[in-house]
Amino acid sequence: MSAEPQVALSLRGVEKSFGPIVAVAGVDLDFFTGQICGLMGPNGSGKSTLFDCCTGLVPLTAGRVLAGTTDITGWEMMRIARQQRLLRSFQKAVVFRALTAEDNLVVAGQMAAFPNLASTFSFGPGARRRVRDLRARAAVLLERVGLAHMQHTRAGEMSFGQQKLLQFASMLMPEPRIILLDEPFAGINPVMIERIVENIRLVNRESGVTFVIVEHNIDVLKGVSDRLVVLSRGSVLANGDPDEVIRDPRVVEAYLAG
Ligand SMILES: Nc1ncnc2c1ncn2[C@@H]1O[C@H](COP(=O)(O)OP(=O)(O)O)[C@@H](O)[C@H]1O
Ligand SMILES: [Mg+2]
Repeated sequence: MSAEPQVALSLRGVEKSFGPIVAVAGVDLDFFTGQICGLMGPNGSGKSTLFDCCTGLVPLTAGRVLAGTTDITGWEMMRIARQQRLLRSFQKAVVFRALTAEDNLVVAGQMAAFPNLASTFSFGPGARRRVRDLRARAAVLLERVGLAHMQHTRAGEMSFGQQKLLQFASMLMPEPRIILLDEPFAGINPVMIERIVENIRLVNRESGVTFVIVEHNIDVLKGVSDRLVVLSRGSVLANGDPDEVIRDPRVVEAYLAG
């Protein structure tokens, strides 16, 4: 067996410009299988755009993205989600407010499991069985994240923190390999932050899911990350052991400079 860590996601010379604005300025990065990597950087340093580039939300200006050894450059978002099980969250809690917590998870499972929208809503014994299986999995995940008591509550009636927890649980429905979280702890209370952190650790440990987490709260990020990457003006400023990275004078300066 090789001691070399496996690469889950690789960026090679990734660039993204919006007209004259260079959001990502040539990034080379490897995210290793089973690792939790924190991604920091001042506002506007290109963190969210980097996630967009990895998940097919925007076309690259230059460079390549590889999931394992598969070149996924130019793939559409749903294809990346379905075939590579690479998913991302958004800073806003993206949930279906009119649906119950359980139905939110079932829909998330259906979107990933079915080849197209038409078959998602098809009927027949096969479809019914799949929905039954998805409900069973949804119940397990709601229990796991501590939302079992809200199974039949509409997402719109849940607190912002509970919605973010529900969004996190939704991402687990399609049995992901790589999860990119964009500010999962922003705007929620410390108890809920701890709950999400515990679940990230659990999923990472039990299922070997690779995480990349963008977060401004350095203490929380350092606590959960195996490795820290710092972006500044679209480029990698530091990459390595969390304690060393946050003491790096260039990182301190980038934050003071805002
Ligand atoms: N769709 C877009 N159109 C134009 N500029 C954008 C767009 N998305 C991001 N940017 C710009 O790209 C830069 C990086 O933004 P972003 O990736 O959101 O940074 P971060 O997530 O680190 O705060 C910023 O200057 C931002 O204004
Ligand atoms: Mg952002």
